[in-house]
Amino acid sequence: MQNGLSIAAGGAMEMMDSAQGRAFDADRRADASAPSHPIDAQGAEIGVVFEIHGSSSQILLDALAIDRLSNSADPVIVAAGQVGSQVKMRVGSTWLIANIRSLKLADGRSGQIVAAIDFLGEGDEERLTGKLYKFRRGVTRYPMPGCPVFPVSTADLQQIYAADDRANIDIGTVYPTRDIRAALYVDALLGKHFALLGSTGTGKSTAAALILHRICDLAPQGHIVMVDPHGEYAAAFKGNGATYDVSNLQMPYWLMNFEEHCEVFVTSHGSERQVDADILAKCLLMARSKGRLGQEISKLTVDAPIPYLLSDLTNLISLEMGKMDRAGDTAPYLRLKTKIDEVKADPRFGFMFSGMLVADTMASFIERVFRLPGDGKPISIIDVSGVPSEITSVVVAVLARMVFDFAIWSRNEPQRPILLVCEEAHRYIPANESMSSVGRILSRIAKEGRKYGVSLGLITQRPSDLAEGVLSQCGTIIAMRLNNDRDQAFVRAAMPEGARGFLDVIPALRNRECIVCGEGVAVPIRVAFDSLEEERRPASDDPLFSRLWREVGQEDQIIARTIKRWRSQGH
Ligand SMILES: Nc1ncnc2c1ncn2[C@@H]1O[C@H](COP(=O)(O)OP(=O)(O)OP(=O)(O)O)[C@@H](O)[C@H]1O
Ligand SMILES: [Mg+2]
Repeated sequence: MQNGLSIAAGGAMEMMDSAQGRAFDADRRADASAPSHPIDAQGAEIGVVFEIHGSSSQILLDALAIDRLSNSADPVIVAAGQVGSQVKMRVGSTWLIANIRSLKLADGRSGQIVAAIDFLGEGDEERLTGKLYKFRRGVTRYPMPGCPVFPVSTADLQQIYAADDRANIDIGTVYPTRDIRAALYVDALLGKHFALLGSTGTGKSTAAALILHRICDLAPQGHIVMVDPHGEYAAAFKGNGATYDVSNLQMPYWLMNFEEHCEVFVTSHGSERQVDADILAKCLLMARSKGRLGQEISKLTVDAPIPYLLSDLTNLISLEMGKMDRAGDTAPYLRLKTKIDEVKADPRFGFMFSGMLVADTMASFIERVFRLPGDGKPISIIDVSGVPSEITSVVVAVLARMVFDFAIWSRNEPQRPILLVCEEAHRYIPANESMSSVGRILSRIAKEGRKYGVSLGLITQRPSDLAEGVLSQCGTIIAMRLNNDRDQAFVRAAMPEGARGFLDVIPALRNRECIVCGEGVAVPIRVAFDSLEEERRPASDDPLFSRLWREVGQEDQIIARTIKRWRSQGH
């Protein structure tokens, strides 16, 4: 009588005895092959409620009774009694549904298993058949200890997981059934951000493509921006998305705010950095105010997205430098000028810093990238794999900030909510690091985006590397298998209490399976994702070494072409 059972002090022994008595009763009844309850045709009693105790309720399961269910034709009944499966119990005319969180052998009593459970919700009992219907979250009346416990059936799960009439998308089937559809409620999913987590190779990218495809099918006039660091998604959204990479993104440098300018142009550290930044601020403001657009604005700020000429900026820096008396004072000016000239001349930076990008293309940039109008292609894929790594985070920062600022400045307009999806999110919002501009803007969207109609979708294989608090801002968590303990602990901390039973399954999930909990689902579910059609999958197929290592020929040409591209940096 140690462990779990001993925690209920005092009359626990008695309780246990009487509770076990009930479970054995159930046994005898099952032996006599009589229905366990006159109006419950769906399964025999498998145990009894042992302790009702806030978040730590327990039931006693009878191993023999569970064993007998293994021959059932219904896969849901076969899975009865397993961690992550559900049980039901009757209170008055309602059925309570609970999820099994953990199992252990009752001390000294073979055949008896103690299961910790979390209540999921309740449904009404149909008078004649005893079936469950009208399932809802939350429990109004708890059962008394001693109350019989039954396995849930496919028919029960159908009722529990039936999507109500809110807008929803189908993503797969509810485990362990083969036919009950798992639905995500789109408004709740997007309204409070979502995170898609899983170790490498579990199928995250494909799952992300699947979810986004379903959303696009539902909302062909939607507005989704996806940041794609590996160039995987263009292949998946050829038909229904606009795809951008360094060859056609044409993101003007002047869209950057001051902080982002500093990240690109200021190279010094420590106290020197502040000096350089002050000079840049002064000259940038002057450069912005030189153009026609800048002159029209009476109180121009250094952050305003006003076109200016890079040559104006370097000229102004030179001019300021000329005002210095001592030679030593010119160092910061020279540093800035050198860096700006370097960036301007580097063909790899052309998609952002080309002289061609000086025209005021802000409206068309927003139109193209935010899909306004969606025009049957509601998603834009921003492939940043070709962006030089030193400015990838600035590019993502500008995109994310544009989404957020657009939402803020269009507050009085008809609302056009935007979903921003970030693959490899831990790269942009890392923990334990002083935040860069991209980390700051993404954290801000996580905290405030909801109010302005900006939704965030974070995809990562390393949830423990995400900045603190970001995960808990995600209303819906879609967790695939996570192999690492630290990652599991982080996800556990971000998940609601009632989903704990599901959580313990996370290390044991198969590829393409996930646990979904939070706002986007009525109750936490374990889902096997649908298979996604080949042409809608991201180009992330694992290389097949065994096959590819059998192929030979044309090596010299492969190398020559590669070196050519490499040297010309893709131009
Ligand atoms: N729902 C699915 N339908 C069809 N194929 C799938 C599905 N889920 C995963 N796969 C296949 O499994 C493999 C790995 O999937 P995916 O690239 O999505 O994993 P990942 O978790 O994103 O990996 P990484 O962490 O390396 O990015 C791919 O070859 C993919 O085609
Ligand atoms: Mg991936």
